[in-house]
Amino acid sequence: MSHWLVTGAAGFIGANFVRLAAAAGGPRLVVLDALTYAGNLENIADLVADGRVEFHRGDICDEPLVTGLFARYRFDRVVHFAAESHVDRSILGAGPFVRTNVHGTAVLLDAARACWKAQTGDPLFLHVSTDEVFGSLEPGEAPFTEDSPYRPNSPYSASKAAADHLVRAWQHTHGLPAIISNCSNNYGPWQFPEKLIPLMILNAIDGRELPVYGDGMQVRDWLHVEDHCTALLAMLERGQPGRTYVVGGNCERANIDIIRRIASEVDALLGKPAGSAAKFIRHVADRPGHDRRYAMNAAVLRRELGWQPRHDLEGALPSVVRWYWENREWAARIRSGAYREYYEKQYGARA
Ligand code: NAD
Ligand code: TYD
Repeated sequence: MSHWLVTGAAGFIGANFVRLAAAAGGPRLVVLDALTYAGNLENIADLVADGRVEFHRGDICDEPLVTGLFARYRFDRVVHFAAESHVDRSILGAGPFVRTNVHGTAVLLDAARACWKAQTGDPLFLHVSTDEVFGSLEPGEAPFTEDSPYRPNSPYSASKAAADHLVRAWQHTHGLPAIISNCSNNYGPWQFPEKLIPLMILNAIDGRELPVYGDGMQVRDWLHVEDHCTALLAMLERGQPGRTYVVGGNCERANIDIIRRIASEVDALLGKPAGSAAKFIRHVADRPGHDRRYAMNAAVLRRELGWQPRHDLEGALPSVVRWYWENREWAARIRSGAYREYYEKQYGARA
């Protein structure tokens, strides 16, 4: 039977990915997640409970643990999401970013290499990375492609760039079959509410301030998490080892426009007069080193793997806003810190 190791699947994108992969059936999904502040076992609790996902709490930097998992399951796919993922936190302190994103990736690569030396078949290491490794675009400049040079600007993007280079080096030097996926900003259910879209939705629901960094004219290319996950599944099925694929939603929007849109969606959902939530928009100090614009040209992925995004931001926002409204207890547990007790309460005996 095929076994996939999915790292970081108690976080936002990984949780959506295992949900989709489990629905498609087939491989046995083994999740390794340290449950950092961003990891929440509630996100996949139903899948763990009914056995569709096997969960291991642990750190990707823990070499004996990682090599032990490879020895036990002989994984034929690794889908590597685990990372420190928030730019603002990387500005406050880069240590955990270097440790997990760089060292942790090297530990996984080494374990895969050792295991796959003695393995037949067509194993694959899929490294999930970001458009931020390519730096910032000027207005009017062509979107990033697979050939864009690396120019990371934040400690977060620098640590992800370093990880991408390690994957490339293990492929080149050791022949490790690997794919690097660089994608744009994701949005959708189960996103940790420190990121722009869930933060703004929840603050608008609660009547709290909507903090806009600087002039709010920074541009991101928004990709629905489900579209990201279908792109990853296409790479796992039909991708060429040794390749990089860029993934984007073809959906460039300025932050301030998204924030206004969210404010009006929340007003509509809660039956409040138009303009109620927008009154809470506040321009605050800009993020140091703030990248102005990201955009992706996913033509290769469309052409070679037949992938297309199904969602656009304006069409998807009402259902995303509704999801955070309907799951406000989930969000409240995160915001109060109570979600961190969940694992011990629910799984303590089996930890
Ligand atoms: P997230 O912060 O929501 O989740 C990260 C998960 O990794 C958490 O469950 C956390 O507990 C786990 N983790 C962290 N350190 C670990 C360690 N040392 N060992 C084991 N597990 C650990 O992140 P996300 O938004 O789901 O992002 C997933 C991946 O996608 C990351 O690699 C990120 O760089 C990349 N990415 C994210 C976006 C985005 O918009 N969210 C865009 C492009 C790329
Ligand atoms: P974020 O979700 O942190 O993603 P990234 O920095 O990786 O792109 O932020 C998205 C954009 O929104 C980014 O330009 C920073 C901006 N932003 C705000 O204006 N206010 C906020 O409170 C947050 C969290 C982000």
